[in-house]
Amino acid sequence: MKSESIVVVGAGVIGLDVALVLAKRGYGRNTTIIAEHLPGDTSINYTSPWAGANFSAISASDANALRWDKLGYAYLLSLAAKDDKDAFVKESTSTEYWDEMPSPAKIDSMAKYLKNFKEIPAGDLPSGVAYGIEFTTITLNAPMHIRYLLRKLTEEYGVRVVRKRVSDITSGFLSKDTKVVFNCTGNASRDLNGVQDSKCYPTRGQILLAKAPHIQQNVMRHGKDYETYVIPRPYSNGNVILGGFMQKGVSTADTFSYETESILSRTTAMLPSLASSETQILAAFSGLRPSREGGARVSKEVIQVDGTGRQGVLVHNYGAGGTGFQAGYGMAIEAANTVAEELQALA
Ligand SMILES: Cc1cc2nc3c(=O)[nH]c(=O)nc-3n(C[C@H](O)[C@H](O)[C@H](O)COP(=O)(O)OP(=O)(O)OC[C@H]3O[C@@H](n4cnc5c(N)ncnc54)[C@H](O)[C@@H]3O)c2cc1C
Ligand SMILES: *[C@@H]1O[C@H](CO)[C@@H](O)[C@H](O)[C@H]1NC(C)=O
Ligand SMILES: *[C@@H]1O[C@H](CO)[C@@H](O)[C@H](O)[C@H]1NC(C)=O
Ligand SMILES: *[C@@H]1O[C@H](CO)[C@@H](O)[C@H](O)[C@H]1NC(C)=O
Ligand SMILES: *[C@@H]1O[C@H](CO)[C@@H](O)[C@H](O)[C@H]1NC(C)=O
Ligand SMILES: *[C@@H]1O[C@H](CO)[C@@H](O)[C@H](O)[C@H]1NC(C)=O
Repeated sequence: MKSESIVVVGAGVIGLDVALVLAKRGYGRNTTIIAEHLPGDTSINYTSPWAGANFSAISASDANALRWDKLGYAYLLSLAAKDDKDAFVKESTSTEYWDEMPSPAKIDSMAKYLKNFKEIPAGDLPSGVAYGIEFTTITLNAPMHIRYLLRKLTEEYGVRVVRKRVSDITSGFLSKDTKVVFNCTGNASRDLNGVQDSKCYPTRGQILLAKAPHIQQNVMRHGKDYETYVIPRPYSNGNVILGGFMQKGVSTADTFSYETESILSRTTAMLPSLASSETQILAAFSGLRPSREGGARVSKEVIQVDGTGRQGVLVHNYGAGGTGFQAGYGMAIEAANTVAEELQALA
């Protein structure tokens, strides 16, 4: 079947962004997405619906992360300009604080492309903060944004979607027509047969969903061993995400009342207007960021598909950690570029 020429395994933001880049290059009707979980589902094994989500300078300072962020920011900015309500993406003002000075490479890179980038004068920083910036961020309503991506892919571009769990890497090669498989399985990459990448590990976060319609701006503070943030969710009737935690190697889906208390006290100290009687805590959630030592893996590999010696091209794209929404589109462009020749041969 022609729609099986390209297979994307995984329907988190990473797999959906890859499918979107392929569709925009004209391969929508040649692409099938296979995933155990699809937008609209919730599971501890499906990270994307749990994200805040915002564009933040929290990401790493290595060349890959800086490049993916920049590509992702440009894409999200254009989406916010033309499709904001449908895509659940919106510009807002963000303030970010660091307890320790970020690297010069990071500051330089951000200063070049972030809209309305401004350093906060040292005298205006809260105590204990070494560095602060203000800029225009992009905030996403994560669960609604991935539904938008799925709808656009199927209705506008003719991408086929199959709900199915695969047990190993070669099952993505659905038939002999399948030339390229994209592996966008997130944290599952640690245990799945065929890759078993031991560099992958979960980074747990607990967040609170609150109703606080009077809060209109993002604030976050990056500490040595904590992350505190307030992120209004676009087009949600005043919902705000309060966080959070970055717990390396922790994978429990449970939520804890003492973590809820910690989030409330830290966010209220940072943004006192949260303490208003208008604020209502609706729920606590736990989510696992698909992290990877050394950063995400975007690379191509030629593998043996079956006993007959048939070869297939596998493109890895996993380990986005805490930045799948902001960097996902940039990662997708590069993942698709690794197989530019193979894609051309499909035409
Ligand atoms: C609390 C929290 C806040 C966050 N905030 C932000 C933020 O503000 N900004 C930001 O950029 N990022 C944020 N993130 C990170 C972001 O959510 C992740 O980077 C992103 O969701 C990772 O997407 P993914 O597609 O790699 O994985 P997932 O969303 O987990 O998707 C994996 C997909 O693979 C499928 N799959 C796995 N194994 C198999 C199999 N064997 N067979 C078939 N299908 C399979 C799953 O069913 C699913 O469809 C946050 C994360 C958390 C937890
Ligand atoms: C890609 O899809 C188009 C449209 O359905 C089809 O005409 C073409 O043959 C497909 N190519 C391959 C190699 O599957
Ligand atoms: C999540 O994935 C792990 C590893 O594949 C599995 O053992 C566990 O049963 C899954 N949990 C749920 C709730 O699906
Ligand atoms: C993530 O990986 C850890 C360790 O392998 C595992 O315990 C957990 O169930 C995984 N969770 C997800 C979201 O796949
Ligand atoms: C804000 O963004 C960063 C990176 O994109 C992410 O790690 C953090 O968890 C986000 N906060 C929320 C509430 O999603
Ligand atoms: C995706 O990659 C994982 C490991 O990262 C592997 O175990 C799994 O089988 C792959 N899925 C497909 C169909 O390529």
